[in-house]
This record gives sequence, structure tokens and C-alpha cells, in this order.
Amino acid sequence: MTDVTDGVLHTLFHSDQGGHEQVVLCQDRASGLRAVIALHSTALGPALGGTRFHPYPTEEAAVADALNLSRGMSYKNALAGLRHGGGKAVIIGDPLRIKTEELLLAYGRAVASLGGRYVTACDVGTYVRDMDVVARACPWTTGRSPEHGGAGDSSVLTAFGVFQGMRAGARERWGEPSLAGRTVGVAGIGKVGRHLVEHLVADGARVVVTDVRAQAVAEVIERHPGVRAAAGTQELVRLPDLDVYAPCALGGALDDATVRDLTASLVCGAANNQLAHPGVEKDLADRDILYAPDYVVNAGGVMQVADELDGFDFERCRAKAATIYDTTLEIFACANSDGVPPAAAADRIAELRMAEAVVRA
Ligand SMILES: NC(=O)c1ccc[n+]([C@@H]2O[C@H](COP(=O)([O-])OP(=O)(O)OC[C@H]3O[C@@H](n4cnc5c(N)ncnc54)[C@H](O)[C@@H]3O)[C@@H](O)[C@H]2O)c1
Repeated sequence: MTDVTDGVLHTLFHSDQGGHEQVVLCQDRASGLRAVIALHSTALGPALGGTRFHPYPTEEAAVADALNLSRGMSYKNALAGLRHGGGKAVIIGDPLRIKTEELLLAYGRAVASLGGRYVTACDVGTYVRDMDVVARACPWTTGRSPEHGGAGDSSVLTAFGVFQGMRAGARERWGEPSLAGRTVGVAGIGKVGRHLVEHLVADGARVVVTDVRAQAVAEVIERHPGVRAAAGTQELVRLPDLDVYAPCALGGALDDATVRDLTASLVCGAANNQLAHPGVEKDLADRDILYAPDYVVNAGGVMQVADELDGFDFERCRAKAATIYDTTLEIFACANSDGVPPAAAADRIAELRMAEAVVRA
């Protein structure tokens, strides 16, 4: 047999970004469902991860995204201390045009056909009300609305977890697990960012915010008159007095220009996939900027959907999200002892946990 040399099959079977246990293509022509479910690892338990609903330019791009996102979930779930492996699903198409109840039920049947090896939840393009529908066809669904037995919006605990990671970063950087007196710039004050601002203000931080939505900025400043606004993210990251940068909008926030100009010495935020490309973590370390890995500090949301599977208990889950403080410190300690950037240390710890689980099994 000739090995493929590029494309998603090459990624899956031959590259370090692959190694997935199972990838399932799903189709229901009646509803228009075309989906990819990727299970990267079930070493720690049933794979858990959200459903992205997106108009991918090609089917190949959709499979590549499912492979990439599911792999990321293995690492995130391992470091969150969950008894879950990593999986993710993508539904191909514009959710605004093709998302129907019929399609979501067909998707639920596809997930159910895996018999519990994959537990699905929300991601970009899917919402708690969608999971309520999926759950009608599939018991392995979480991230539902409180009216349907779910935990609802996960942004409260995500923000709490990010704040714990930031406290750990402050301790590593300045010796005290507090943001009091520090200037923290929050880029993106949506569902997570605005809750993060609450924690920071309560802790005595000087907060600067920016968002492409002027209304969001106005609302935060009306609630907290001491909060300042920056004209944009580029202005925010260059503020002379910035201590901490918290990217809470889109992925790729830490690109070359930002890392070059960043005045903060700590980065800790909610956004997924903050490192714009491999190597940025080293550039941050070279500039002595401490980076709290995104997937570690933003795990409050996945902790919540995992907790929901046992019947959601807010206090139990809040206690779980508080462990992000210790986990972040553990990563910094590993980074220091191994002489690697924190992002690499986080990956190493996650890989060790998965490998140990395989040995135990
Ligand atoms: N919601 C969760 O529980 C959760 C969990 C884990 C990770 N995350 C990640 O955290 C980030 C924020 O999630 P959210 O739920 O708050 O999303 P959201 O859509 O509610 O908020 C994002 C905010 O960023 C703003 N924004 C977009 N582009 C911007 C730009 N260029 N500059 C400044 N602001 C910009 C938007 O206007 C919006 O207010 C996302 O990357 C998400 O993937 C969220």
C-alpha cells in the first residue's frame, strides 16, 4: 500500500497532529446533514467536545478542523482532570441557512450511533437550545438549557477559571496571587470577558477594555465607572502601563506583531487558540512574557458540561474550576524545571496523563 503524502488522511495516519482513534463521516440527505465526528482519544474516558456548525469551503477543510479541534479537546480535558477523552464534531454548512430541527435530530442519531464513545455539546454555531433538540435523539448530549435539565450558559465558570489562571500567573510573576493594583487589558467583553471584568474589579485591578461593539464597552463602563476603554486591541496591547493582557475575543490573538509590541508581562485570557502559529510560545518566552496556556485556563466551560452529565451542581463545578489555579502553577513549575515554554509544558503533562491512562487500562 502506498502511503498518502499530504491531505487529511496523511494528517490522520502519519503526522503528529493525527493518531485519532476514529473519524466518522455522517450524512442524512433528507435533512441536509453532513457532519464529521472525530474521536482523538478515549484513553481517559468517553470523548467530550462541542459541535461546530460552519460553512467550510471544502469537505477536506471540515475534516481537518474536526481532527485539529478534537485533538485539542484531548489535551484540554486531560489537564482539566476530567474522566473524558477528546472529541469534536463539525457540521458542514451555514447554520443560518440550513440549521433545522430535522437536521439536529439527524445529527443526534449520528452521535447516538457511537453508543456513548462521544458526548456532544455546543461550540461556534450551536447553542444550548440546539443541544436541547439533539438531546431528544441522543442521550450523550450536554450543554443543554436549565429548562431541559442542563446547566445553561458556561461563560460564568469559564470566566471564573480564567481569573484563577490569572491569579496563578500573578503569583508566578510577582509573588502574590492577586491582581490588585495591576493594569489588566481585556480584549473582547462578550459573555466571558464581561464576567472576567467583574472578578478583576472586585480584586482591585485597574481594568482597560476594548471590543468591536461600542455598546458592549459602554455597558461595562456604565457598570464600572473606573474601567477605561482602549480604542482597539492594537492600542490596548501597547499601553505603557499594561501588566496583563487577557485575549477574550477570537483565536490567533498572539501574532508576531502583537508579541513584538506587547507591553504586558503576563498573558492570560479565555480565547481559544491564542497562539497564531507554532513558535509564538517561544517568542513570548524570549521576551520574558509569561503565557498561561489558553486551553488550561479556559477549561471552566468544559468542566461545566462534564458536570452536567452527573446532574449539574454549580458549587461542585465552581470548586472544580478553582483547581485551574493549581494546574496553572503546576504548568509553570514544569516549564521552569524542563526549560520549555508553558504551552509545551502543558502539552507534556496532558500527554503523560493520557499515556498513564492507557498503561492502567
Ligand atoms: N463561552 C465559554 O464558555 C467559552 C469557553 C472556552 C473558551 N471560550 C472562548 O472565549 C472567547 C470568548 O467567548 P465568549 O463566549 O465570550 O464569546 P462572545 O462572542 O460572547 O464574545 C466575544 C467578544 O469579542 C468581541 N470581539 C470580536 N472581535 C473582536 C476584536 N477584533 N477586537 C475586540 N473585540 C472583539 C465581540 O464583539 C464579543 O463581544 C472565544 O474565543 C471562545 O471560543 C469561551
